[in-house]
Amino acid sequence: MTRKILVTSALPYANGAIHLGHLVEYIQTDIWVRFQKMRGQECWYVCADDTHGTPIMLRAEKDGITPEALIDRVHGEHSRDFAGFHVAFDNFHTTHSEETRTCANEIYARLQAAGLIEKRTIEQYYDPVKQMFLPDRFIKGECPKCHAKDQYGDNCESCGAAYTPNDLIEPYSAVSGAKPELRQSEHYFFKLSDPRCQQFLRRWTQGEGRLQNEAANKLQEWLGAEGENNLTDWDISRDAPYFGFEIPDAPGKYFYVWLDAPIGYMGSFKNLCAKKGLDFDEYWKPGSQTELYHFIGKDILYFHALFWPAELEHAGYRTPSKVFAHGFLTVDGAKMSKSRGTFITAESYLQQGLNPEWLRYYYAAKLSNTMEDIDLNLDDFIARVNSDLVGKFVNIASRSAGFIVKRFAGQLTTCDESLAAFIAIRERSSGVADLLEGREFGKAIREIMALTDLANQYVDSVKPWELAKQEGRENELHAACTNALNLFRQLAILLKPVLPALTAKVEAFLNVAPFVWNDVASTLAAGHAINTYEHLMTRIDKKQMDALVEANRDTLAPAPQPAPQKHAEKQEKAAAVAAAQAAVPSEAGTHITIDDFMKVDLRIARIAEASHVEGADKLVRLVLDIGPLGTRQVFAGIKAAYDPEQLVGRLTMMVANLAPRKMKFGMSEGMVLAASDPDSQTPGIFLLSPDAGAQPGMRVK
Ligand code: MSP
Ligand code: ZN
Repeated sequence: MTRKILVTSALPYANGAIHLGHLVEYIQTDIWVRFQKMRGQECWYVCADDTHGTPIMLRAEKDGITPEALIDRVHGEHSRDFAGFHVAFDNFHTTHSEETRTCANEIYARLQAAGLIEKRTIEQYYDPVKQMFLPDRFIKGECPKCHAKDQYGDNCESCGAAYTPNDLIEPYSAVSGAKPELRQSEHYFFKLSDPRCQQFLRRWTQGEGRLQNEAANKLQEWLGAEGENNLTDWDISRDAPYFGFEIPDAPGKYFYVWLDAPIGYMGSFKNLCAKKGLDFDEYWKPGSQTELYHFIGKDILYFHALFWPAELEHAGYRTPSKVFAHGFLTVDGAKMSKSRGTFITAESYLQQGLNPEWLRYYYAAKLSNTMEDIDLNLDDFIARVNSDLVGKFVNIASRSAGFIVKRFAGQLTTCDESLAAFIAIRERSSGVADLLEGREFGKAIREIMALTDLANQYVDSVKPWELAKQEGRENELHAACTNALNLFRQLAILLKPVLPALTAKVEAFLNVAPFVWNDVASTLAAGHAINTYEHLMTRIDKKQMDALVEANRDTLAPAPQPAPQKHAEKQEKAAAVAAAQAAVPSEAGTHITIDDFMKVDLRIARIAEASHVEGADKLVRLVLDIGPLGTRQVFAGIKAAYDPEQLVGRLTMMVANLAPRKMKFGMSEGMVLAASDPDSQTPGIFLLSPDAGAQPGMRVK
């Protein structure tokens, strides 16, 4: 029986570019959906931009445009990036849509009718200059525990303590810098503390196979022991000014972005239903026989496994069949970083001419069905793609297709299905299907590569290139190349969900209809004519990778500081809960105070020594003389623009109080200042210099 499956990926915020971290999720989901479609299931993949909330409102204001103009522009950019990586949504909609508004109002009305919405007056910080209530993330101040300055209103990044903005010492608005005032306001709450919600969630989260084990455990922890009432009511309203949906019958009150965001899944599907004539209710009514899966990152588990199912259940809809959470992307073992050039945007990857299927393949090879983080190791990426995809897989076709075209007028002969490689593929392909179904992509790729090795062993044993040189061995050559191409075809079928563009080229040169999964059981008939073979995929050159990192390097971004490990666990939860109260801003406000500026100790420095760094393409080692303050060693990413010899003796400026950072090459004890335009094709690097007369050690302010 054909399954009816609705699949979603999380909705990306409409105020930022898609980057390689996001792509883990969209590529993972896309592979799974393509696999389902190849198996003949009726599978719909929907997504949308997540367009509401304070950060988007402020970002539009900063850019001098309306929020509508901002989200329109970003929708275009996101669509372009997803298409570039072959992420094939059936619908990519927006939460700022009539469909989402209708569904949100409906859900709200039903929760209200069920007695699960409550109005309450709360005290909240208000920015008197900006004239708006401030989300916790937009209030900063001194940590009440460790007294670190400039901590966010929800938790301290220095000691990990979680608290409310009211606990901050000397709070200030991150938007205007003004001292916020406490003001009262009426808010709407979803009563998660209601016994009905608690009971339902206890049952739902422990449902067989609904959540991954680690996720179910996390949820258990959040819910607390039986009888405990750990969940607090969820504040779902925000006061104007806010960019979002105004709550019906509550002028000046808006739905909090995280209320309407998951409803955006419904909105996008509703929009698709209208285009395709699908039955919305069949997919969303309670007891629906269809399947509903949400692919998400582990950071938003709280919303998808607590708030969302509770909302759906009590508003009279079906709940998700399963929630699939994945881990976070690291690059070369560390969090993506602008200063290291590893905060790589989808756009720059494509612009630099890198092949999107290299990344799809690499992610597939690294993904599992757990919440573990996945690492993009740049050297391993190059090695793996070159050896597996080009060296092993494509190589089978490139060693056999040419002969068929040149020597046999493009026609195949009979294929020998008793070869060990054919038998192995036939026997093991259903195991590959099980692995793909279970999101064990890494294991599936290893299995496909083992089968590819068998195919190559066959080609190596018959050596078509030698047969081709010998007279009277035409038939053997014909058979060898026919077998090789058939093996190649079968492997291409298994790889199709991962490599859709490459397999489209394979289908074209093999002159066959688009592959479906069951095609793996058959071979091409004798006499089948193929088209001219054109090269399918090139190798990655290390230089391309270096150029990509360089293009993404923001030389002015602060070097990443080691994150405090102690409270990482606690922080993770604090962050999840905090995010529930306020969407995380991408940029906190537009102004800093003079005090903020004065925290940066800028000094005139004389470059006392400058030398190349063994093993570093970008760095120059500098010893900076800052007069009475002594000397500092700094590694500066300026090698592309400066010859160390020419630097010695000149004056520049440095940040003298940057926390020292241990690098592979030694300690870096500060940062020199340089100008550059990361958005330009030719960013350049221009060191700053003071006017004549400035002396080493002078403070810059
Ligand atoms: N707008 C919310 C989701 C609302 S869903 C109803 C959001 N947006 S996001 O743009 O920040 O992230 C979108 C998805 O990308 C999330 O599932 C998130 O976990 C994932 N990722 C964002 N950065 C990531 C990495 N560095 N690594 C892996 N996944 C990451 O959250
Ligand atoms: Zn602290």
